[in-house]
Amino acid sequence: MPLKLIRDDITRVRCDAIVNAANNSLLGGGGVDGAIHRAAGPKLLEECRTLNGCETGEAKITKGYNLPCRYVIHTVGPIYRDGQHHEEELLRSCYRNSLALAKEYQCASVAFPLISAGVYGYPKGEALKVATEEITSFVMDHDMLVYIVIFDAAAFSLSSKIYTDIQEYIDQNYVDTHTDSISERKRRSKYARHEFSMPFFSQNKKEQAADSCEADEAVGYAPVMAAKEESLEDRLKIIDESFSEMLLRKIDESGMSDSECYKKANIDRKLFSKIRSNPLYKPSKPTVLAFAIALQLPEEECEEMLMKAGFALSNSSKSDIIVRYFISHGNYNIFDINDALFAFDQPTLGV
Ligand code: AR6
Repeated sequence: MPLKLIRDDITRVRCDAIVNAANNSLLGGGGVDGAIHRAAGPKLLEECRTLNGCETGEAKITKGYNLPCRYVIHTVGPIYRDGQHHEEELLRSCYRNSLALAKEYQCASVAFPLISAGVYGYPKGEALKVATEEITSFVMDHDMLVYIVIFDAAAFSLSSKIYTDIQEYIDQNYVDTHTDSISERKRRSKYARHEFSMPFFSQNKKEQAADSCEADEAVGYAPVMAAKEESLEDRLKIIDESFSEMLLRKIDESGMSDSECYKKANIDRKLFSKIRSNPLYKPSKPTVLAFAIALQLPEEECEEMLMKAGFALSNSSKSDIIVRYFISHGNYNIFDINDALFAFDQPTLGV
Protein backbone atom coordinates (compact mmCIF):
# COMPACT_ATOMS: atom_id res chain seq x y z
CA MET A 1 0.00 0.00 0.00
CA PRO A 2 1.15 3.46 -0.83
CA LEU A 3 2.96 6.43 0.58
CA LYS A 4 1.83 9.82 -0.64
CA LEU A 5 3.39 13.24 -0.19
CA ILE A 6 0.84 16.03 0.05
CA ARG A 7 1.00 19.75 0.72
CA ASP A 8 -1.61 20.65 3.31
CA ASP A 9 -2.42 21.57 6.88
CA ILE A 10 -2.55 18.24 8.71
CA THR A 11 -5.60 19.27 10.72
CA ARG A 12 -7.60 19.22 7.48
CA VAL A 13 -6.48 15.82 6.24
CA ARG A 14 -9.28 13.23 6.22
CA CYS A 15 -7.90 9.91 7.34
CA ASP A 16 -8.18 7.48 10.25
CA ALA A 17 -5.34 8.96 12.28
CA ILE A 18 -3.07 11.98 12.20
CA VAL A 19 0.25 12.09 14.00
CA ASN A 20 1.17 14.95 16.31
CA ALA A 21 4.76 16.14 16.78
CA ALA A 22 4.35 16.63 20.52
CA ASN A 23 6.66 17.23 23.51
CA ASN A 24 7.28 14.98 26.53
CA SER A 25 4.46 16.54 28.56
CA LEU A 26 1.82 15.88 25.84
CA LEU A 27 0.12 19.01 27.13
CA GLY A 28 0.28 21.02 23.92
CA GLY A 29 2.71 23.54 22.50
CA GLY A 30 3.35 25.47 19.30
CA GLY A 31 3.78 24.35 15.67
CA VAL A 32 1.73 21.41 14.50
CA ASP A 33 0.99 20.47 18.14
CA GLY A 34 -0.72 23.83 18.73
CA ALA A 35 -2.65 23.59 15.46
CA ILE A 36 -3.90 20.07 16.32
CA HIS A 37 -5.04 21.06 19.82
CA ARG A 38 -6.82 24.17 18.50
CA ALA A 39 -8.64 22.19 15.82
CA ALA A 40 -9.50 19.23 18.09
CA GLY A 41 -10.92 21.38 20.92
CA PRO A 42 -10.30 21.26 24.72
CA LYS A 43 -11.33 17.60 25.14
CA LEU A 44 -8.08 16.54 23.51
CA LEU A 45 -6.06 18.23 26.22
CA GLU A 46 -8.29 16.62 28.87
CA GLU A 47 -7.51 13.16 27.51
CA CYS A 48 -3.80 14.01 27.11
CA ARG A 49 -3.64 14.87 30.82
CA THR A 50 -4.51 11.25 31.62
CA LEU A 51 -1.55 9.85 29.63
CA ASN A 52 1.31 10.85 31.94
CA GLY A 53 3.49 12.24 29.20
CA CYS A 54 5.50 10.34 26.63
CA GLU A 55 9.18 9.41 26.22
CA THR A 56 11.12 10.67 23.22
CA GLY A 57 10.76 8.18 20.36
CA GLU A 58 7.58 6.67 21.86
CA ALA A 59 3.94 7.22 20.81
CA LYS A 60 0.52 7.36 22.50
CA ILE A 61 -2.95 7.54 21.05
CA THR A 62 -6.10 9.61 21.79
CA LYS A 63 -9.40 10.25 20.08
CA GLY A 64 -9.61 12.91 17.37
CA TYR A 65 -12.54 14.94 18.82
CA ASN A 66 -13.36 17.82 16.45
CA LEU A 67 -10.73 16.80 13.91
CA PRO A 68 -11.78 14.96 10.74
CA CYS A 69 -9.90 11.85 11.95
CA ARG A 70 -10.76 9.14 14.47
CA TYR A 71 -7.43 9.25 16.32
CA VAL A 72 -4.46 11.45 17.07
CA ILE A 73 -1.20 9.60 17.60
CA HIS A 74 1.14 11.73 19.71
CA THR A 75 4.83 11.09 19.29
CA VAL A 76 7.81 12.98 20.63
CA GLY A 77 10.67 13.58 18.24
CA PRO A 78 14.26 14.20 19.35
CA ILE A 79 15.62 17.71 19.77
CA TYR A 80 18.40 17.92 17.18
CA ARG A 81 21.78 18.85 18.59
CA ASP A 82 24.59 17.68 16.31
CA GLY A 83 23.43 14.32 14.97
CA GLN A 84 25.65 12.52 17.49
CA HIS A 85 23.03 12.08 20.21
CA HIS A 86 20.92 9.23 18.77
CA GLU A 87 18.72 11.74 16.97
CA GLU A 88 18.24 9.56 13.88
CA GLU A 89 17.53 6.41 15.86
CA LEU A 90 14.97 8.25 17.99
CA LEU A 91 13.31 9.83 14.98
CA ARG A 92 13.06 6.43 13.27
CA SER A 93 11.45 4.97 16.36
CA CYS A 94 8.84 7.80 16.34
CA TYR A 95 7.71 6.60 12.92
CA ARG A 96 7.87 2.91 13.81
CA ASN A 97 5.97 3.28 17.08
CA SER A 98 3.35 5.55 15.52
CA LEU A 99 2.79 3.15 12.64
CA ALA A 100 2.56 0.21 15.05
CA LEU A 101 -0.14 2.05 17.02
CA ALA A 102 -1.99 2.91 13.81
CA LYS A 103 -1.94 -0.77 12.90
CA GLU A 104 -3.07 -1.85 16.37
CA TYR A 105 -6.05 0.50 16.06
CA GLN A 106 -6.80 -0.83 12.56
CA CYS A 107 -6.27 2.45 10.78
CA ALA A 108 -6.42 2.19 7.01
CA SER A 109 -4.90 5.63 6.55
CA VAL A 110 -2.59 7.83 8.61
CA ALA A 111 -0.98 11.23 8.06
CA PHE A 112 2.40 12.38 9.44
CA PRO A 113 3.89 15.84 9.67
CA LEU A 114 7.67 16.01 9.42
CA ILE A 115 8.43 15.17 13.02
CA SER A 116 11.23 17.20 14.68
CA ALA A 117 11.69 19.27 11.53
CA GLY A 118 10.33 22.47 13.12
CA VAL A 119 11.37 23.95 16.46
CA TYR A 120 13.24 20.74 17.35
CA GLY A 121 15.64 21.65 14.56
CA TYR A 122 16.17 18.37 12.69
CA PRO A 123 17.53 19.25 9.21
CA LYS A 124 14.48 19.11 6.98
CA GLY A 125 15.99 17.12 4.10
CA GLU A 126 17.27 14.47 6.50
CA ALA A 127 14.01 14.40 8.43
CA LEU A 128 12.18 13.75 5.17
CA LYS A 129 14.61 10.98 4.26
CA VAL A 130 14.07 9.22 7.58
CA ALA A 131 10.28 9.60 7.24
CA THR A 132 10.27 8.25 3.69
CA GLU A 133 12.51 5.28 4.51
CA GLU A 134 10.60 4.21 7.61
CA ILE A 135 7.18 4.61 6.01
CA THR A 136 8.23 2.89 2.78
CA SER A 137 9.54 -0.14 4.60
CA PHE A 138 6.30 -0.31 6.62
CA VAL A 139 3.89 0.04 3.69
CA MET A 140 5.66 -2.75 1.81
CA ASP A 141 4.21 -5.19 4.35
CA HIS A 142 0.99 -3.52 5.45
CA ASP A 143 -2.29 -2.45 3.92
CA MET A 144 -2.18 1.18 4.93
CA LEU A 145 -2.22 4.46 3.05
CA VAL A 146 0.33 6.79 4.65
CA TYR A 147 0.59 10.49 3.94
CA ILE A 148 3.55 12.73 4.66
CA VAL A 149 2.07 16.19 4.98
CA ILE A 150 4.37 19.01 3.96
CA PHE A 151 3.19 22.29 5.38
CA ASP A 152 5.70 24.89 4.30
CA ALA A 153 7.46 24.90 0.93
CA ALA A 154 10.86 25.30 2.62
CA ALA A 155 10.35 22.02 4.48
CA PHE A 156 10.76 20.19 1.26
CA SER A 157 14.14 20.13 -0.31
CA LEU A 158 15.62 17.59 -2.63
CA SER A 159 19.36 17.35 -2.30
CA SER A 160 20.69 20.29 -4.24
CA LYS A 161 22.72 18.08 -6.59
CA ILE A 162 19.76 16.05 -7.79
CA TYR A 163 17.59 19.18 -7.95
CA THR A 164 20.12 20.92 -10.18
CA ASP A 165 20.53 17.86 -12.39
CA ILE A 166 16.79 17.54 -12.89
CA GLN A 167 16.44 21.27 -13.48
CA GLU A 168 19.10 21.09 -16.19
CA TYR A 169 17.44 18.08 -17.76
CA ILE A 170 14.10 19.91 -17.82
CA ASP A 171 15.75 23.00 -19.28
CA GLN A 172 17.26 20.96 -22.08
CA ASN A 173 14.15 19.01 -22.92
CA TYR A 174 11.25 21.21 -21.94
CA VAL A 175 12.35 24.79 -22.38
CA ASP A 176 13.58 24.09 -25.90
CA THR A 177 10.18 22.85 -26.99
CA HIS A 178 8.51 25.87 -25.43
CA THR A 179 10.70 28.61 -26.80
CA ASP A 180 10.10 28.31 -30.54
CA SER A 181 9.70 31.66 -32.18
CA ILE A 182 6.16 32.49 -33.26
CA SER A 183 7.16 32.19 -36.90
CA GLU A 184 8.65 28.74 -36.35
CA ARG A 185 5.50 27.59 -34.65
CA LYS A 186 3.33 29.00 -37.43
CA ARG A 187 5.48 27.29 -40.03
CA ARG A 188 5.24 23.99 -38.24
CA SER A 189 1.50 24.12 -37.85
CA LYS A 190 1.10 25.14 -41.52
CA TYR A 191 3.30 22.21 -42.50
CA ALA A 192 1.31 19.88 -40.31
CA ARG A 193 -1.96 21.10 -41.87
CA HIS A 194 -0.50 20.67 -45.34
CA GLU A 195 0.63 17.12 -44.62
CA PHE A 196 -2.72 16.24 -43.18
CA SER A 197 -4.75 17.73 -46.01
CA MET A 198 -2.91 16.04 -48.86
CA PRO A 199 -4.35 12.54 -49.00
CA PHE A 200 -7.81 13.43 -47.84
CA PHE A 201 -8.82 16.63 -49.53
CA SER A 202 -6.74 17.28 -52.59
CA GLN A 203 -6.88 14.07 -54.54
CA ASN A 204 -9.51 12.04 -56.29
CA LYS A 205 -10.51 8.72 -54.76
CA LYS A 206 -8.39 6.51 -57.03
CA GLU A 207 -5.23 8.47 -56.30
CA GLN A 208 -6.07 8.48 -52.64
CA ALA A 209 -6.31 4.69 -52.54
CA ALA A 210 -3.01 4.24 -54.36
CA ASP A 211 -1.27 6.73 -52.09
CA SER A 212 -2.75 5.18 -49.04
CA CYS A 213 -1.38 1.76 -49.93
CA GLU A 214 2.10 3.15 -50.47
CA ALA A 215 1.99 5.18 -47.32
CA ASP A 216 0.66 2.27 -45.32
CA GLU A 217 3.49 0.04 -46.39
CA ALA A 218 5.98 2.73 -45.54
CA VAL A 219 4.64 3.22 -42.03
CA GLY A 220 3.54 -0.34 -41.46
CA TYR A 221 -0.24 0.09 -41.29
CA ALA A 222 -2.62 -2.48 -42.79
CA PRO A 223 -3.62 -1.45 -46.33
CA VAL A 224 -6.80 0.58 -46.65
CA MET A 225 -8.03 -1.53 -49.60
CA ALA A 226 -7.98 -4.64 -47.44
CA ALA A 227 -9.92 -2.84 -44.76
CA LYS A 228 -12.77 -2.28 -47.16
CA GLU A 229 -13.27 -6.02 -47.51
CA GLU A 230 -13.17 -6.61 -43.78
CA SER A 231 -16.09 -5.86 -41.52
CA LEU A 232 -15.55 -3.73 -38.46
CA GLU A 233 -16.31 -6.81 -36.42
CA ASP A 234 -13.40 -8.67 -38.08
CA ARG A 235 -11.12 -5.75 -37.40
CA LEU A 236 -12.03 -5.71 -33.75
CA LYS A 237 -11.11 -9.38 -33.44
CA ILE A 238 -7.47 -8.58 -34.08
CA ILE A 239 -7.26 -5.97 -31.35
CA ASP A 240 -3.79 -5.61 -29.79
CA GLU A 241 -2.73 -6.78 -26.37
CA SER A 242 -4.31 -4.39 -23.85
CA PHE A 243 -2.58 -2.47 -21.07
CA SER A 244 -3.80 -4.94 -18.47
CA GLU A 245 -2.61 -7.92 -20.51
CA MET A 246 0.79 -6.36 -21.11
CA LEU A 247 1.11 -5.54 -17.42
CA LEU A 248 0.34 -9.11 -16.34
CA ARG A 249 2.69 -10.51 -18.97
CA LYS A 250 5.50 -8.21 -17.85
CA ILE A 251 4.94 -9.13 -14.20
CA ASP A 252 5.25 -12.81 -15.12
CA GLU A 253 8.37 -12.18 -17.18
CA SER A 254 9.96 -10.19 -14.35
CA GLY A 255 9.56 -13.08 -11.88
CA MET A 256 7.94 -10.68 -9.38
CA SER A 257 4.75 -11.60 -7.56
CA ASP A 258 1.69 -9.42 -8.19
CA SER A 259 1.93 -7.94 -4.70
CA GLU A 260 5.64 -7.17 -5.03
CA CYS A 261 4.84 -5.33 -8.22
CA TYR A 262 1.93 -3.21 -7.03
CA LYS A 263 3.75 -2.32 -3.82
CA LYS A 264 6.82 -1.23 -5.76
CA ALA A 265 4.46 0.78 -7.96
CA ASN A 266 2.98 2.51 -4.90
CA ILE A 267 -0.44 1.25 -6.04
CA ASP A 268 -3.05 -0.11 -3.69
CA ARG A 269 -4.29 -3.67 -3.81
CA LYS A 270 -7.89 -2.79 -4.74
CA LEU A 271 -6.83 -0.84 -7.80
CA PHE A 272 -4.54 -3.66 -8.86
CA SER A 273 -7.39 -6.21 -8.55
CA LYS A 274 -9.57 -4.03 -10.77
CA ILE A 275 -6.85 -3.89 -13.40
CA ARG A 276 -6.16 -7.60 -13.18
CA SER A 277 -9.81 -8.59 -13.53
CA ASN A 278 -10.62 -6.28 -16.44
CA PRO A 279 -8.51 -6.76 -19.58
CA LEU A 280 -9.94 -3.52 -20.98
CA TYR A 281 -9.27 -1.45 -17.85
CA LYS A 282 -8.43 2.17 -18.69
CA PRO A 283 -5.77 3.33 -16.22
CA SER A 284 -4.68 6.91 -15.61
CA LYS A 285 -1.28 7.96 -16.91
CA PRO A 286 0.38 8.12 -13.44
CA THR A 287 -0.83 4.55 -12.83
CA VAL A 288 0.74 3.28 -16.06
CA LEU A 289 3.99 5.09 -15.28
CA ALA A 290 4.01 3.71 -11.76
CA PHE A 291 3.85 0.14 -13.11
CA ALA A 292 6.45 0.86 -15.79
CA ILE A 293 8.78 2.07 -13.03
CA ALA A 294 8.04 -0.90 -10.76
CA LEU A 295 8.83 -3.25 -13.65
CA GLN A 296 11.99 -1.28 -14.46
CA LEU A 297 10.99 -1.02 -18.10
CA PRO A 298 13.47 0.66 -20.42
CA GLU A 299 12.17 3.82 -22.06
CA GLU A 300 10.97 2.06 -25.22
CA GLU A 301 8.86 -0.45 -23.34
CA CYS A 302 7.61 2.25 -21.02
CA GLU A 303 6.39 4.11 -24.12
CA GLU A 304 4.77 0.91 -25.39
CA MET A 305 2.90 0.39 -22.14
CA LEU A 306 1.75 4.01 -22.15
CA MET A 307 0.56 3.66 -25.72
CA LYS A 308 -1.59 0.66 -24.76
CA ALA A 309 -3.48 2.99 -22.47
CA GLY A 310 -3.62 5.82 -25.00
CA PHE A 311 -0.77 7.94 -23.55
CA ALA A 312 2.78 8.98 -24.45
CA LEU A 313 5.83 10.50 -22.81
CA SER A 314 6.02 14.06 -23.94
CA ASN A 315 8.74 16.70 -23.78
CA SER A 316 5.98 19.25 -23.30
CA SER A 317 5.27 17.88 -19.86
CA LYS A 318 7.59 18.54 -16.92
CA SER A 319 6.45 15.43 -15.12
CA ASP A 320 7.22 13.25 -18.16
CA ILE A 321 10.70 14.76 -18.43
CA ILE A 322 11.33 14.06 -14.76
CA VAL A 323 10.22 10.43 -15.16
CA ARG A 324 12.39 10.12 -18.26
CA TYR A 325 15.34 11.57 -16.33
CA PHE A 326 15.09 8.83 -13.73
CA ILE A 327 14.63 6.06 -16.30
CA SER A 328 17.65 7.27 -18.26
CA HIS A 329 19.69 7.28 -15.04
CA GLY A 330 18.53 3.74 -14.19
CA ASN A 331 16.89 4.92 -10.96
CA TYR A 332 13.57 3.05 -10.68
CA ASN A 333 12.85 3.92 -7.06
CA ILE A 334 9.31 5.29 -7.20
CA PHE A 335 9.72 7.16 -3.92
CA ASP A 336 12.77 9.03 -5.25
CA ILE A 337 10.82 9.84 -8.40
CA ASN A 338 7.83 11.03 -6.39
CA ASP A 339 10.07 13.21 -4.20
CA ALA A 340 11.37 14.87 -7.36
CA LEU A 341 7.91 15.24 -8.92
CA PHE A 342 6.67 16.77 -5.68
CA ALA A 343 9.62 19.18 -5.51
CA PHE A 344 8.77 20.38 -9.01
CA ASP A 345 5.05 20.68 -8.16
CA GLN A 346 4.04 17.81 -10.41
CA PRO A 347 1.50 15.09 -9.63
CA THR A 348 3.12 12.01 -8.09
CA LEU A 349 2.91 8.43 -9.40
CA GLY A 350 0.81 5.62 -8.00
CA VAL A 351 -2.06 6.18 -5.59
N1 AR6 B 1 0.25 20.77 9.30
C1 AR6 B 1 1.32 20.06 8.87
N2 AR6 B 1 2.58 20.33 9.21
C2 AR6 B 1 2.79 21.37 10.04
C3 AR6 B 1 1.74 22.18 10.56
C4 AR6 B 1 0.42 21.83 10.14
N3 AR6 B 1 -0.64 22.52 10.57
N4 AR6 B 1 2.28 23.14 11.34
C5 AR6 B 1 3.62 22.95 11.31
N5 AR6 B 1 3.92 21.91 10.54
P1 AR6 B 1 6.97 21.44 14.79
P2 AR6 B 1 8.84 19.60 16.11
C6 AR6 B 1 5.23 21.32 10.21
O1 AR6 B 1 7.76 22.61 15.25
O2 AR6 B 1 9.98 20.15 15.36
C7 AR6 B 1 5.80 22.00 19.59
O3 AR6 B 1 5.79 23.14 20.35
C8 AR6 B 1 6.42 22.23 10.37
O4 AR6 B 1 6.58 23.04 9.21
O5 AR6 B 1 5.49 21.53 14.92
O6 AR6 B 1 8.72 18.12 16.24
C9 AR6 B 1 5.69 20.72 20.42
O7 AR6 B 1 4.88 20.91 21.54
C10 AR6 B 1 7.55 21.22 10.51
O8 AR6 B 1 7.99 20.80 9.22
O9 AR6 B 1 7.40 20.09 15.60
C11 AR6 B 1 7.11 20.46 20.76
O10 AR6 B 1 7.50 21.22 21.88
C12 AR6 B 1 6.87 20.03 11.21
O11 AR6 B 1 5.47 20.26 11.12
C13 AR6 B 1 7.86 20.90 19.55
O12 AR6 B 1 7.04 21.89 18.92
C14 AR6 B 1 7.24 19.87 12.68
O13 AR6 B 1 7.37 21.14 13.28
C15 AR6 B 1 8.07 19.78 18.58
O14 AR6 B 1 8.91 20.22 17.54
